[in-house]
Amino acid sequence: MAEHEMGPIEVLVAEHRVIGAVLGCMERMASRIEEGGTADLESARRAVEFMNGYADRLHHEKEEAILFPTLGRLGILSSNRPFVMMCHEHEMGRAHLRRMGKFLDSWSAGGAAGRQAALSFAADARSYASLFREHIRREDDELFPAVHRALHRDDLSVLADAFDSADRESLRPDARERLTELARTLLDRWPAPEEPDAEKPDPPLSRAARA
Ligand SMILES: [Fe+2]
Ligand SMILES: [Fe+2]
Repeated sequence: MAEHEMGPIEVLVAEHRVIGAVLGCMERMASRIEEGGTADLESARRAVEFMNGYADRLHHEKEEAILFPTLGRLGILSSNRPFVMMCHEHEMGRAHLRRMGKFLDSWSAGGAAGRQAALSFAADARSYASLFREHIRREDDELFPAVHRALHRDDLSVLADAFDSADRESLRPDARERLTELARTLLDRWPAPEEPDAEKPDPPLSRAARA
C-alpha cells in the first residue's frame, strides 16, 4: 500500500518499521565496536543523521504536535499520563542523539581517546535502541489500537491531512529522500541476520521510507 493510501495510524506504524530497522543497524554497529572490530565512523554519522531527521523531526513531531494533542482534545484516554511519558521518552532520545553527536567528534580525532569515544557511542546507541524499541512496542501494541478504535472516520481524515501538512513543512522532499537513502545505505552495510525459518515480513523500506 502506498503511503497516500494509508490511514494516519498506519503511516506512523510504517515509520516505526523503518526506525526499528535502523535501530537494528545501530545495535549491530555497537556490537562490532564492543568486539574491537573495524569501527565505522561514517555509518555512525549516518545513523545519527537519520534518527535526528526521520525519527525525531519527521515522526516524533507528528506525534507531539498533532496526534497527542488531538487525542487529548477528544478525550480518547482517561488521563494525559501516557502522552507525558511518550514525550518524556522523545526528550530522552534527543539527549542520546546530542551525546552521540559529541562522541562522533571525539571519535574522528582517532587514537586512544577516539577509541574510548567509539565505545561511548556504542553504549549510547544501545541505550537509545532499547529505549525506542520499547517505546515503539507500547505505541504499536497499546496506544495506537486504542486510538484506532476510538477515532471516527472524520477524525482520522483530519489527522491524515494534518500529518501531510506537517510532513511538507518539516522536511523538503529532497531532505526526505536523503533520509530514505541513509536508511537504505545503513541496511545494506549492516543487514539484519538471516532467519531462514522465520516468515519474511515486508521490507521496511517498501512502504513509508519510499513514499
Ligand atoms: Fe513516540
Ligand atoms: Fe512513534
